[in-house]
Amino acid sequence: MKKILSMALAAAMVMSMTVNAAAAEVSTVEAGKLYMATNAAFPPYELVADDGTFEGIDVEIATAIAEKLGLELVVDDMDFTAVVTSVQTGKDDIAMAGLTVTEERKQNIDFSDTYATGIQVIIVTEDSAIATVDDLEGKLIGCQEGTTGYMYCSDDYGEENVVAFPNGANAVQALMTGKVDCVIIDNEPAKAFVAANEGLKILDTTYVVEDYAIGVNKENPELLAAINGVLKEMIEDGSVKAIVDKYINAGTEEETAEETAEETTAEAK
Ligand code: ARG
Repeated sequence: MKKILSMALAAAMVMSMTVNAAAAEVSTVEAGKLYMATNAAFPPYELVADDGTFEGIDVEIATAIAEKLGLELVVDDMDFTAVVTSVQTGKDDIAMAGLTVTEERKQNIDFSDTYATGIQVIIVTEDSAIATVDDLEGKLIGCQEGTTGYMYCSDDYGEENVVAFPNGANAVQALMTGKVDCVIIDNEPAKAFVAANEGLKILDTTYVVEDYAIGVNKENPELLAAINGVLKEMIEDGSVKAIVDKYINAGTEEETAEETAEETTAEAK
């Protein structure tokens, strides 16, 4: 009995040591904290809630990662153009901003494994003559400054045909007032902006497909490894999917209508 007990005790000690080791191994900008650089104008990945707190898919995944590493998440909201630099210069620990992995950004920061896919889509007004990517030649395109959407559009259609806005909502506003002919932005924020404004639609055409990942300072491979470990766990146990579903797949109008229909049928029976 004594032997079993002491074995169990030893096992427990080893386990708690491994857990603590994972947390103790990573060094962060401020001890006990995990600073996340983001631009909280990108629903449903990061946004400011009505009560002024930060929410969204990235915020929730980052909170869970921080917790698993024994750290407290601190959201550092800034212009999107500053997000990568903030991690590169050591002001923040991670960049999480629906941030696309690109070769150019890889020169400045390391990227974790990917946790989501982004698709660059085209938003137009309902009466627009633009129907596909082929119609964009010579049109004025609105984008968020510093984004991959902006980079691709200026490469493909010429810088003089692309207008950079501080955030996606500003670009959409310019589309509503006829200052640009379309907006190119990631699909989920596009859906959110179209839902929030009358008279807009997303074209059924894909411009570019990309991977989102977490940016980490190149001098902190321990943090990168720890994040990848936690991410893998969270993908395997379904917690990443649960967070994504909460913001994207759940509570859509169609589903609600379907549910209501089902309930009605159930009641009628
Ligand atoms: N995925 C695009 C990029 O990496 C846009 C991201 C914009 N994110 C934001 N939080 N505003 O360039």
